Amino acid sequence: MRLALPDPALVLLVGPSGAGKSTFALRHFRPTEVVSSDELRARIADDPDDQSASADAFRLLALIVAARLARRRLTVVDATNLAAAGRRRLAAQARRVGIPVVAIGFDMADDLFLAYNRRRPGRQVDEGIVRDQIGRLRESVGRLPSEGYAKVVVLRTPAEIDGIRVERVGG
Ligand SMILES: Nc1ncnc2c1ncn2[C@@H]1O[C@H](COP(=O)(O)OP(=O)(O)O)[C@@H](O)[C@H]1O
Ligand SMILES: [Mg+2]
Repeated sequence: MRLALPDPALVLLVGPSGAGKSTFALRHFRPTEVVSSDELRARIADDPDDQSASADAFRLLALIVAARLARRRLTVVDATNLAAAGRRRLAAQARRVGIPVVAIGFDMADDLFLAYNRRRPGRQVDEGIVRDQIGRLRESVGRLPSEGYAKVVVLRTPAEIDGIRVERVGG
């Protein structure tokens, strides 16, 4: 499947831990285009899972997103993005500078999320937490179409995720 992506755009990846968000981001975007909450937690606390670093990490994430969007650089937010309020704040930053927002949801079967999470190199998230995130994902996927994005893409199978071709349009 071809995904026509406006450039610049703010891309929100939406999915639980183990959805394959970071893998997808690495495959389709330049490292400097991707802002990752895990990486920022690691940058601050030397541990991507240190939740006590989350508040600082998300403050930094918002700053980086704002600075990139001000320069009209395509920006991908690699975080779970499962909270509507968080998505709204990020989208507002893009709208302020007239940049479209694209949401990409990773909505696979529960078993696949849990299997992917188990394969996360040295970084498995507690299964109960992933199950909770999956619940929030289903709710998020239902809401994405009414959140005013320029485009919403929901990927439902590994084949669909692996078959995506990102093509940038505009500029
Ligand atoms: N497209 C894919 N095909 C096969 N396995 C994948 C794919 N994407 C992710 N995985 C597996 O799932 C694990 C978690 O992926 P990752 O991208 O780190 O997820 P997230 O960033 O959403 O937590 C990877 O280490 C890999 O083993
Ligand atoms: Mg990740």
